[in-house]
Amino acid sequence: MEATSAKIEVHDLHYSVADLEILKGISVSIAPAEILCVMGLSGSGKSTLIRNIAGLVQPSAGEVRIDGTKTSGLTEEELLPHRAKMGVVFQYAALFDSMTVYENIAFGVLRGPRRAQYKKAPPIKIARIVAQRLREVGLPGIERRLPSELSGGMRRRVGLARALATEPEIVLYDEPTSGLDPVTAAFIDDLILTTRERNKVTSIVVSHDMGSIYRIADHVLMIYEGKAQFHGTVAELKASTDPVVRQFINGDTQGPIQNQQGHAPRKGNKR
Ligand SMILES: Nc1ncnc2c1ncn2[C@@H]1O[C@H](COP(=O)(O)OP(=O)(O)OP(=O)(O)O)[C@@H](O)[C@H]1O
Ligand SMILES: [Mg+2]
Repeated sequence: MEATSAKIEVHDLHYSVADLEILKGISVSIAPAEILCVMGLSGSGKSTLIRNIAGLVQPSAGEVRIDGTKTSGLTEEELLPHRAKMGVVFQYAALFDSMTVYENIAFGVLRGPRRAQYKKAPPIKIARIVAQRLREVGLPGIERRLPSELSGGMRRRVGLARALATEPEIVLYDEPTSGLDPVTAAFIDDLILTTRERNKVTSIVVSHDMGSIYRIADHVLMIYEGKAQFHGTVAELKASTDPVVRQFINGDTQGPIQNQQGHAPRKGNKR
């Protein structure tokens, strides 16, 4: 593959579990400081794509490159410097249940790309970073709580604070706003934008929320039946005449996308 200035390159990525081929050749290139939104039906493989890029699973074929270096196929140890560049906001906020909010976020700081710098830092400095990250996600002062004492949306936002605590170069957000109220979701959209502006972060955001996608995306990728059904700008998405794309963004039951039982819905049925 040719070297390019892309921050992340996914080339002809295939991913199978058992007999099921989930991703059937996805190629996408993400420029530095770009925000790519990934959309697609539930079960289409969006989280699977994120896990492949994060190096948490290995593709069955094809490759992932970060800063021009092929990361697929590396050993755990070889992967570490690449993982340190990335913050991942998991779809189901994977917090450590026995650790307080403070410990969860400090863990991110002390494991991140600037860990050498922070290891020697006085605890007050770490405490300031944790407090700042909590303020950014709208949850000031909850350092001493345990994850079990938080609502689902709060846990989600602590997961976001932990991913951003390390000041990563790349952030992979898996549905960061689903299940949040519209106002909190809009604050998270703003946080994704300011994080990009402040630190030139490259972002991949999995989202079902078309309003949010229109606000934050530079490019949009739609995965359908294991392939890239669409890749382009928001303006191109809005102008797309592809019936699959149109049905998805309009939320129509009528069109080429069938429901999971494979039955055609009633004609003219609209959500
Ligand atoms: N480890 C696994 N073992 C078996 N099947 C898996 C595994 N991981 C994912 N799958 C299957 O792969 C498909 C894609 O899953 P994935 O979680 O990537 O979808 P998604 O697009 O993120 O969906 P959602 O919008 O619901 O989060 C699903 O059919 C899922 O059941
Ligand atoms: Mg998912």
